[in-house]
Amino acid sequence: MPDPIRLFVAGPEPVPATGSDQVRQPVLRARDIRVDFAGEPVVDGVSMRIDRGEAVGVIGPRGSGKTTLLNAITGVVPATGDLFVDGLPVRLGSPERSRRSGLVRMFQTPQPVRALSSADNILLANSDHRHRDLLAAWLLRPLLTRVQQERQTDTPTAAARAGSGRPAGPGTDVLTYGERRLLDIARGIAAVPRVLLLDEPSAGLSSRETDALLLLLRGVAAEGVGLLVVDHKIDFIDALCDRVTVLETGRVVAEGTPAEVWRDRRVMDAYLGAAHDA
Ligand SMILES: Nc1ncnc2c1ncn2[C@@H]1O[C@H](COP(=O)(O)OP(=O)(O)OP(=O)(O)O)[C@@H](O)[C@H]1O
Ligand SMILES: [Mg+2]
Repeated sequence: MPDPIRLFVAGPEPVPATGSDQVRQPVLRARDIRVDFAGEPVVDGVSMRIDRGEAVGVIGPRGSGKTTLLNAITGVVPATGDLFVDGLPVRLGSPERSRRSGLVRMFQTPQPVRALSSADNILLANSDHRHRDLLAAWLLRPLLTRVQQERQTDTPTAAARAGSGRPAGPGTDVLTYGERRLLDIARGIAAVPRVLLLDEPSAGLSSRETDALLLLLRGVAAEGVGLLVVDHKIDFIDALCDRVTVLETGRVVAEGTPAEVWRDRRVMDAYLGAAHDA
């Protein structure tokens, strides 16, 4: 039996972004982002920048506004401030505009359409069918291999689906929780984002699955995609991210490389203090 997690991450070596210009160019700039709930500031003047191919982590205690910041940037909650994607202004407050600008958001819990196969779920994400680039192929190939192997070994499932008018294949309910999360991320990647925003992608994953996720996301960043990653697993953030922004009560209290941020005593006190309370 092949290792399913390996199948998710096996594939050709990612193609490095071409030229230093591409690597250094900001793909996302957010300036003075603010969100209020009932008159209380929850995101309180956050500014940040993500370069192409760069992974930026957002960490902070529970309730510090990380998810709300992602919601603001992706137009899910009303917000003020300025947002630029690839240098072009994107008006806040519309998920549709955010998506069209190339921002793809993965939620805190996997949300695949359970009745569809893994491959169908990925194709669903890539609904405009314009993009057929390396990125999608890199991820689709191993997933399709897995689906094909399941099809051969999972005869009852395949038989149950015969006559449904769709190609036979297992639904996502045969996948483990960790595999469903990876599939969800695969859907996001197949949508060919400029920036992929992930909210606690490692939550509920085993350490082996977290390693697979790390490899997967490094490969995505190497393709030139910007990553904005919220997570509570500090080892995962440190291993993945080029820079880290630390939020506390909606404000940026520190930013820099992971090493720089962890040298900041305030961060240690604020973050670990709250983490211990959680
Ligand atoms: N829809 C909402 N209405 C009112 N208050 C909200 C709403 N969503 C979040 N909040 C509040 O905003 C604050 C920030 O919440 P948010 O979910 O962004 O934190 P977080 O940093 O993502 O926390 P966690 O680490 O637990 O995921 C919290 O005080 C929360 O109670
Ligand atoms: Mg959150």
